[in-house]
Amino acid sequence: MKEYIPMIEEALAAYIPRGDYGEQRLIDAAEYSLKLPGKRVRPALTLAFCELCGGEVEKALPYACAVEMIHTYSLIHDDLPCMDNDDYRRGQPSNHKVYGEDIALLAGDALQSMAYAAMLSDQAVQAVGAENAAKAAKILAEKSGLLGMVGGQTIDLMSEGKKPDLDTLRVMDEKKTACLIEAACMMGCICAGADDNRIHAAERYAHAVGLAFQIVDDILDVTSTTDELGKPVGSDRDNEKSTYVALMGIEKCRQLADELTDEAIGALSAFDGDTKPLADFARALANRKK
Ligand code: IPE
Ligand code: IPE
Ligand code: MG
Ligand code: MG
Ligand code: MG
Repeated sequence: MKEYIPMIEEALAAYIPRGDYGEQRLIDAAEYSLKLPGKRVRPALTLAFCELCGGEVEKALPYACAVEMIHTYSLIHDDLPCMDNDDYRRGQPSNHKVYGEDIALLAGDALQSMAYAAMLSDQAVQAVGAENAAKAAKILAEKSGLLGMVGGQTIDLMSEGKKPDLDTLRVMDEKKTACLIEAACMMGCICAGADDNRIHAAERYAHAVGLAFQIVDDILDVTSTTDELGKPVGSDRDNEKSTYVALMGIEKCRQLADELTDEAIGALSAFDGDTKPLADFARALANRKK
């Protein structure tokens, strides 16, 4: 999966407008967060599912970049004082600490539009076909929007200082984190022209990987260091966030992340190709240190 990262970062950089556009501060702000060293988990998944389904990874690159743009926008907004109020991200000051809250808000907005421009460019549409391009863009819109990531972020904020039940926590994590990972995996299959059976298997894999991903993120907020994570630890406690870790403790959460990882790997049986990289990746994400 690591082999995909240089390709993704080169493609992301190419979406930053070069020239005298006037709104240079906005462009700089979008570029700043996009270029900081994120793990690139979601775009790597898009490319891996495209390859698993027999597609050419280059054709999936605009869709991989789109999901990373949406993810980056979600991080910029997530760090704002009106949300998690975190000053550090990907090892550097958060976007709003460098560019101010107003420009950070707009940089997030701009990255969201850039994602759709990337997926629906003439070149991207020609590469995967108009029908697949529309299908991929629709999935990203649904999974990142009102009933997906943004909805989950809302539940997250509304649950601060409360003790929601496990069902509510699950829906919150499904929406705020698993949904975007589902879109990433499904779009990879779509770019390869895969059938619905495989698209839905990718969704099941991503659903379980995504839930485990948020649970591990919540564990690391307690057990890691700001240096290692590149973002502030203890943020969830400071914000009185409702998390699985707060509700059931670290050991139970580790177990749950392992069970979800098994579930994810099980979903890969729907594919004929070499599923080992995606199985190993799910395990590595569950055991990650950052
Ligand atoms: C952080 O995502 C936000 C969550 C959904 C937990 P990542 O851990 O993928 O962040 P980057 O992209 O590596 O910075
Ligand atoms: C954020 O969850 C999920 C998003 C949709 C951005 P967190 O608030 O726990 O993410 P971090 O820990 O700030 O990266
Ligand atoms: Mg948050
Ligand atoms: Mg946060
Ligand atoms: Mg977190």
